[in-house]
Formats: sequence, structure tokens, C-alpha cells
Amino acid sequence: MNTIENIDKDKLPQHLAIIMDGNGRWAKQKGKMRVFGHEHGAKAVKKIVESCVKIGVPYLTLYAFSTENWNRPKFEVDTLMKLLATQLKKELNTFLDNNVRFNTIGNIDSLPKKAFKEITEVTNKTSGNTGLTLTLALSYGAREELVNAVKNISVKVKNNIISSENIDEIIINNHLYTHNIPDVDLLIRTSGEHRISNFLLWQIAYAELYFTNVLWPDFNEQQLVEAILNYQNRERRFGKTSEQLN
Ligand code: FPP
Repeated sequence: MNTIENIDKDKLPQHLAIIMDGNGRWAKQKGKMRVFGHEHGAKAVKKIVESCVKIGVPYLTLYAFSTENWNRPKFEVDTLMKLLATQLKKELNTFLDNNVRFNTIGNIDSLPKKAFKEITEVTNKTSGNTGLTLTLALSYGAREELVNAVKNISVKVKNNIISSENIDEIIINNHLYTHNIPDVDLLIRTSGEHRISNFLLWQIAYAELYFTNVLWPDFNEQQLVEAILNYQNRERRFGKTSEQLN
């Protein structure tokens, strides 16, 4: 069985992103309501954050709630929002003890007041931390992020702050929610679905993709280690040939 010791610390993914999927099916398999799966999904979040701290991954971004998730039944949305608020309150000390800097991407203004308040508090209280940067994608959609970036750049062009000829990848990147986070190196999706679902479309341009059948509440340190070892065995060519890399 592989453990954290098997990981090459010099070849760690700098930015790990995860599409946490399968909470509902996990609960259904147990004859429980979907929200039972989300509660256990939240426990998996805590464990994976702690594992990333132990491994030394610098950036972890979790897809917790998409713009499309607002269309779920009201009871499920309300429960997820309550869970988010209670978990953040509960985990503030874990973040402080582990030097975790917390932040969010997405339209957090659209979240219920209580969740918004906890997000603001945890973001502010952990802003000086220098270890793992944990980012929750909340009410997030990559297309919306890109639309937002285009709008903001257009305003700057109109006001002569940016000239249209100078628009390049750096300028676009600087107008994304993730402007202070490096590109994704490894993207994991649980639950056997092979989709990106409008997550970090710009930032995953050169990411390695890893799909596992494990449902999110069952995803643990062992599976994370397997995903990172798999990543470390891949050849990342960034468009070059294998010979050029050697
Ligand atoms: C996908 O499973 C999961 C979500 C839409 C929400 C993710 C939420 C958590 C992991 C728990 C709460 C998180 C925090 C940060 C407190 P699904 O419901 O789509 O599962 P299914 O595809 O099996 O129905």
C-alpha cells in the first residue's frame, strides 16, 4: 500500500483542484437522503485538507457549489448552505492550527447571509497564513468567470486603462477570480463521471486529469496519494516532444 512517504516532494502538483462528486449516490446506496451524503462529504473535505497540509500541496481548490447547483431542490440547497456555514465556523481553528489560508471564488454575494458572514470571517482571520491556500468554489461557473473578466477588461479599455492591442493571456488571467493562484496541475473528479462541468476552464489548460470511481464521501488520504503518484508518473510535455524534455 502506498503512503505519503512514496510521494516525490520535488514533483508535487502546486495546484490541486477537485470536483467532489457522488455524495447523493453514496447516500442512496445506504438508503439515506441525499443530504446525508453531503454531511459525509463535508467530513471528507476536512480529511483531504489535512492530508494536503501533510503532503505539502500549496494550493487546493474544491468545487463545492456551482452556479447550476442553485437549480437543485430548495431543501438540498438550504441544507448545503447551512452545512457550509456550520463547517466553516467549526473548522476555523483547524485552519489556524494548520496555517491554512482560506478563500473563495465565485459569486459569494448570492449566498445566504449566514454563509456569507462565516466566509468573510474565516477569510479575514486566515488571511495572514502562509501554508496551504484552500479555495472553495461557491456559486462558481467558469463561463460566468470569463464573462465577468471580459466585462471588466472592456471597461478598462473604454477608460483607456488598457489598450485593446495589449490584451494578452496575462491580462485575462489577472481578471479571473483565480488571479493570485497558479494554473491547475492536477484535476481530480470522483464518482466515475468524466466531465469538467464548467470548472476552471481557463486554468486547467495544461492540467493532468484524474478520474476515480470512488464516491466523494469515501475519498480519503490513500486515494489522494494514489492520484498524486499517478500524476508524478506522467510526462507533462506542454506541447513539446518527449525528446525535447529529455
Ligand atoms: C456533488 O455530489 C457534490 C456537491 C454538489 C456539493 C459538494 C458538497 C460537499 C462536498 C459537502 C459540503 C462542503 C463543504 C465545503 C462544507 P452530488 O450531490 O452531485 O452527488 P450525485 O452526483 O451522486 O448526486
